[in-house]
Amino acid sequence: MLLSRYIHAGISASLSALPLLMFPLGMPVMVNAASSDTSWIPFDLAQFNGNATLDTKGDVQLFWKTGDEYSTYGIASRSKGYLALGFSETGAMTGADIAVGSMDNGEFKFENRFAAGFVSPEVSKDQQNNMRLKEGHQQDGVTAFVFEKKNVADCLAEQVNVNTESWQWFIYAFSDENTFAQHKAGNKGKSYVKLGTGETISVNEIRPVDNAKNFTLTQSEVAIPTQETTYCYTMHKMPSGKKNYILGERPERSSDFLHHLVLYACYGITDQDKEMVGKDAVCSDDFSNPCNGFVTEWSPGMSGRTFEPGYGKPFGEDYYEYVMLETHYNNPDLIDGQKDAASFSFIYTDQPVKTEVGSLTLGDVGNRFTLEPGKELVAVSRVCTPECTGNWPEEGITAFSVFHHMHYRGRNARVQIIRDGKEIAPLSELRHFDYGYQFSKGLNQIKLLPGDMLITTCEFETTGDTEPVKGGLSSQQEMCFSWVDYYPANTIMMCSQFDMGNSTKDGLTGVVGFCSDSTKPEAERFESASITNPFEALPETGNTCNASNSTGTDSSDNAADDSAASSSLPSLTLLITMLSTLGFYLAFNDY
Ligand SMILES: *[C@@H]1O[C@H](CO)[C@@H](O)[C@H](O)[C@H]1NC(C)=O
Ligand SMILES: *[C@@H]1O[C@H](CO)[C@@H](O)[C@H](O)[C@H]1NC(C)=O
Ligand SMILES: *[C@@H]1O[C@H](CO)[C@@H](O)[C@H](O)[C@H]1NC(C)=O
Ligand SMILES: *[C@@H]1O[C@H](CO)[C@@H](O)[C@H](O)[C@H]1NC(C)=O
Ligand SMILES: *[C@@H]1O[C@H](CO)[C@@H](O)[C@H](O)[C@H]1NC(C)=O
Repeated sequence: MLLSRYIHAGISASLSALPLLMFPLGMPVMVNAASSDTSWIPFDLAQFNGNATLDTKGDVQLFWKTGDEYSTYGIASRSKGYLALGFSETGAMTGADIAVGSMDNGEFKFENRFAAGFVSPEVSKDQQNNMRLKEGHQQDGVTAFVFEKKNVADCLAEQVNVNTESWQWFIYAFSDENTFAQHKAGNKGKSYVKLGTGETISVNEIRPVDNAKNFTLTQSEVAIPTQETTYCYTMHKMPSGKKNYILGERPERSSDFLHHLVLYACYGITDQDKEMVGKDAVCSDDFSNPCNGFVTEWSPGMSGRTFEPGYGKPFGEDYYEYVMLETHYNNPDLIDGQKDAASFSFIYTDQPVKTEVGSLTLGDVGNRFTLEPGKELVAVSRVCTPECTGNWPEEGITAFSVFHHMHYRGRNARVQIIRDGKEIAPLSELRHFDYGYQFSKGLNQIKLLPGDMLITTCEFETTGDTEPVKGGLSSQQEMCFSWVDYYPANTIMMCSQFDMGNSTKDGLTGVVGFCSDSTKPEAERFESASITNPFEALPETGNTCNASNSTGTDSSDNAADDSAASSSLPSLTLLITMLSTLGFYLAFNDY
């Protein structure tokens, strides 16, 4: 019951209202430079220094020039009605800050709209400061316009911050009609675009890599049980050699019942464990996975990933030779007779790479949390303590991407950095998390130092629950993970806290620090002052909404007015306001 509501809100809803293209898995998603034929574009291209083709045909092209306060964007489409370009956090419509251009009685009309969900975006209150039209055209079957947008939002309830140095999701839609309404299937899309000039390491697309070898891990076929949640495991031996490097990954989705795939590295496993290789998948609740190094995962919304030349994730005799492939099947309607053989393909090299990439698991490792039901937003925070990060090399590590993972109730996630007792700029903040739109978020490379404390927070919406929601493996339960890719690789695999529950081990009780090192047989648990004195989350800066420049459209804007009335509210309050609006739309959409 509850689950079907979440699935509806999170996934099916994306197929109604104003749907966006979700790329089928295994299909390459390439971000191309603007097509060479730009003769049809009516604005001056010389004002820009970056470009991307948003569709596959070159009929929708984006141009930009980033600036200190505002950046300038030009969007052109070979279509003769409205054209919309949205700045999105996840590639979904939810939360997108959208520029819409159209013709209205012979005049070019420009609007800033905001999408509270997979519903028709509302006109934003601020039509002056966030976005400003510079020029607009509609003629000869082409619609095009140039506008400026603020890099840092004044009003996080209706606007977004733009990642001008790093990767930014854009969504677009066009029509041959000027009336802003639901567009035809196919006249829309999403693209993860790198706006800035900084170095990038991991891209969320499948790219060819010269001279790369490849291998595919395929789980033996399983009959998907008629139960809601099933986890299946197969162990695989990786290609042999002392040192190899993963360069890219291409998940291949088979069944719609597949909820996610995770690949774990097996360090220090027994010969008995190794006997699992080549055997049928084990789909038993009693099975305990002996492998806990995180390699990679696939979740809905992802197409594949490729590292830039010079970077690779090491495996081999010097690291790990065995991996565990975990599949999670979700069969809430208990449908009989489904089968699947999931597989995950990789490209790799046995040649040395310039920089070795590591993965660090942050978040909840014990599934020992309980969420209060009936809440618009309820948070779980987990601390990675200075004792654990103290094991990093003296010069620190550089984080370049992060994958936030929650289940259907997940709404926002962040990783904060506390250095010498003070919070510095966060490692990552992701608002409007959508289960169906998960991705590896590109970061403007962030240096982390030994002794840093990292706080991972997941915010969940439990308005659809009447019973407490437990952390756990089932898709009805919740998870809170942030997997950080960084370089150079070291041996620390997980950094978090652990609730001992009622047990006592080595004199430890209560919540203790947790640090897992691939060279040690067991994770270290220890008392840490960082856990007993949790750091207070700081409000986001600049997060105020000026309501005075209202366009006076309709009363549904009122939801945000409360937050607009007082300035400098903590981010949580604004998010709650925003989410109540979101809840309204989803409910409206659902029933
Ligand atoms: C698009 O960008 C590429 C480099 O990123 C540049 O070489 C090309 O000239 C640009 N195209 C246009 C039409 O501006
Ligand atoms: C809100 O008001 C402040 C102070 O007047 C101004 O700096 C800011 O740009 C305004 N933001 C919006 C969205 O109007
Ligand atoms: C994998 O490698 C084989 C040759 O070793 C090649 O024929 C094939 O095209 C490769 N597949 C991919 C997906 O790169
Ligand atoms: C811990 O002990 C308390 C009191 O004895 C009990 O109510 C609770 O269920 C126990 N918790 C666990 C996780 O065993
Ligand atoms: C409202 O818009 C005017 C421009 O029309 C601008 O000068 C002013 O700063 C805006 N006020 C706020 C509070 O955003």
